[in-house]
Amino acid sequence: MSQPNALLDLGFVQNARESYDAIAEEYTRRFPDGLGHRPLDRALLRGFAELVKGRGSEPVADVGSGPGDVTARLHDLGVPVFGVDVSPRMVALARRAHPQLRFHVGSMDSLDLPDRTLGGLLALYSVIHVPDEYLPVVFGEFRRVLVPGGYLLLAFQTGEDEEQRLTERFGCEVALDCFWRDPETVVAHLAKAGLELQARVVLEPDEDGTRPRAFVLARRSG
Ligand SMILES: C[S@@+](CC[C@H](N)C(=O)[O-])C[C@H]1O[C@@H](n2cnc3c(N)ncnc32)[C@H](O)[C@@H]1O
Repeated sequence: MSQPNALLDLGFVQNARESYDAIAEEYTRRFPDGLGHRPLDRALLRGFAELVKGRGSEPVADVGSGPGDVTARLHDLGVPVFGVDVSPRMVALARRAHPQLRFHVGSMDSLDLPDRTLGGLLALYSVIHVPDEYLPVVFGEFRRVLVPGGYLLLAFQTGEDEEQRLTERFGCEVALDCFWRDPETVVAHLAKAGLELQARVVLEPDEDGTRPRAFVLARRSG
């Protein structure tokens, strides 16, 4: 096994950990249902589950699993899945809500997983906190832990490659950088990391006026 990147406690990782620790309870209370109110998102998750199961029996990691509801949804679709999240508080809440599943604390820039072990990797709305200069590190990690032919499903709010620093969320003080990317920017980074594009879908904003959201499906080549 090659050594994971020794980049622990990068500023953006530490900011994400502290910010999500601060808002974990409120985030979980406000978003109790994972993808429950979004039929198209659920359909994309089901497609991902079918592809992963059709390829083999290796496990799937939900990276940035948050409250764990999507992890549980994937488990209910028959996928052997576990969650990884940088926020210990989020991990504690996910374990409490889904005691039948495994969740551990870890960061996507340095995954505590051997090479070529995952049949799939899911990262929904978690790479939005990674600055551009670290996307090669993160996508390199995703590629490293996937088996050849393994699938990656990403979701992120889109924008014209904009950046925003959140200092307050749900009444809590945070220091959370968010990167709203054009899907093409993400696709280009994936290609450089050796992750081949399979599909990209952009969903228009909900009635609540949030940003458009992209789902990108890629596959480890080789
Ligand atoms: C917006 S929430 C999304 C949660 C979940 N994926 C969902 O869609 O319901 C982002 C999650 O990513 C986690 N996260 C942020 N940066 C991370 C990192 N470097 N490594 C792992 N998890 C991270 C946060 O702690 C948070 O739980």
